[in-house]
Amino acid sequence: MSKAPKRVLVTGAAGQIGYAICPMIARGAMLGPDQPVILHMLDIEPAKTALEGVRMELVDASYPLLAGIVATTDAEEACKGVDVAVMVGGFPRKAGMERKDVMSKNVAIYKAQAAALEKGAAPGCKVVVVANPANTNSLILGENAPSIPKENITCLTRLDHNRALGQLSERSATHVSKVKNAIIWGNHSSTQYPDVNHATIDGKPAREVIGDDAYLDGEFVSCVQQRGAAIIKARGLSSALSAASSACDHIRDWVLGTPADGSWVSMGVYSDGSYGAPKGVIYSFPVTCKDGQWSIVQGLSIDEASATKMKATGEELVEEKALAMECLADA
Ligand code: NAD
Ligand code: LMR
Repeated sequence: MSKAPKRVLVTGAAGQIGYAICPMIARGAMLGPDQPVILHMLDIEPAKTALEGVRMELVDASYPLLAGIVATTDAEEACKGVDVAVMVGGFPRKAGMERKDVMSKNVAIYKAQAAALEKGAAPGCKVVVVANPANTNSLILGENAPSIPKENITCLTRLDHNRALGQLSERSATHVSKVKNAIIWGNHSSTQYPDVNHATIDGKPAREVIGDDAYLDGEFVSCVQQRGAAIIKARGLSSALSAASSACDHIRDWVLGTPADGSWVSMGVYSDGSYGAPKGVIYSFPVTCKDGQWSIVQGLSIDEASATKMKATGEELVEEKALAMECLADA
């Protein structure tokens, strides 16, 4: 191992996504096949024994890239020196619950863990929040960790992005690697807007290849918006392997860069007001990444129907932010 190990925090490591993502990170799916990692796994006291079980399995799997493991229920110990923080810990949505129902439980956790990251994380630590409500949890984390640069705090909408690519791939019977430049705008919720207007399939406009605008403007959009709920219905549990894989994609592209062909991915990032999104919320945009920095793709043409949907999801984020502030004030 020639490179110095990077420390990667996974909160909620004893949970479903934790169990799926820790082996992916240990195999190099997040930081690359030549980057040793030290996994920092955090969970809460009731999950302590399960967390120890995950630690034991990671040891048993003998990963060549895994240079060490910290498994703890102490947030400060978990956050010490971390270069990447994957924030999964929290309460998942169960069948019949809306994302707002989990808000009050989860935003309080994100306020508390912001303090631990602020105190202990390595300078330049990159944070992705997965736990729902992902955009608003990441906003609360950022507001309560003022020394972490705002551009280092993001949330996961890559799963929605990948879901959109997957649907276009299935519909066109084209391998997913040839489907590019879908966009997820806004919130990781059912108001998100999966936009195919700039997407390409095998280099041609997706609308031309699919040839069915009614499908693309109707069923496709609602399928991607509702996919999380459909998985919950089918599995009785929320998505885990796809969430874990997409979180690896999110960090990998952020750290190692998006493709040289200029194709983009979707990330929830601090809104600078691009495309009329409200400022002061974490909103999903199309981004390219280079040298560890993301930048919002500018200059895309937006039709009126898209603008209306982008506005609606932005408004939901502003409402969620207000609700989160109320929850924190009541806590
Ligand atoms: P899970 O219940 O299986 O695991 C969550 C883990 O978090 C549990 O082990 C729990 O003990 C732990 N936890 C609770 N409070 C904690 C705290 N304060 N500190 C550290 N750990 C804590 O849930 P899951 O299926 O792994 O989902 C995790 C989260 O990810 C949920 O909020 C879910 O809704 C969300 N999610 C987001 C996406 C996305 O695309 N953004 C996709 C799927 C799931
Ligand atoms: C998902 O998108 O699969 C998760 O966010 C689960 C959910 O609550 O929808």
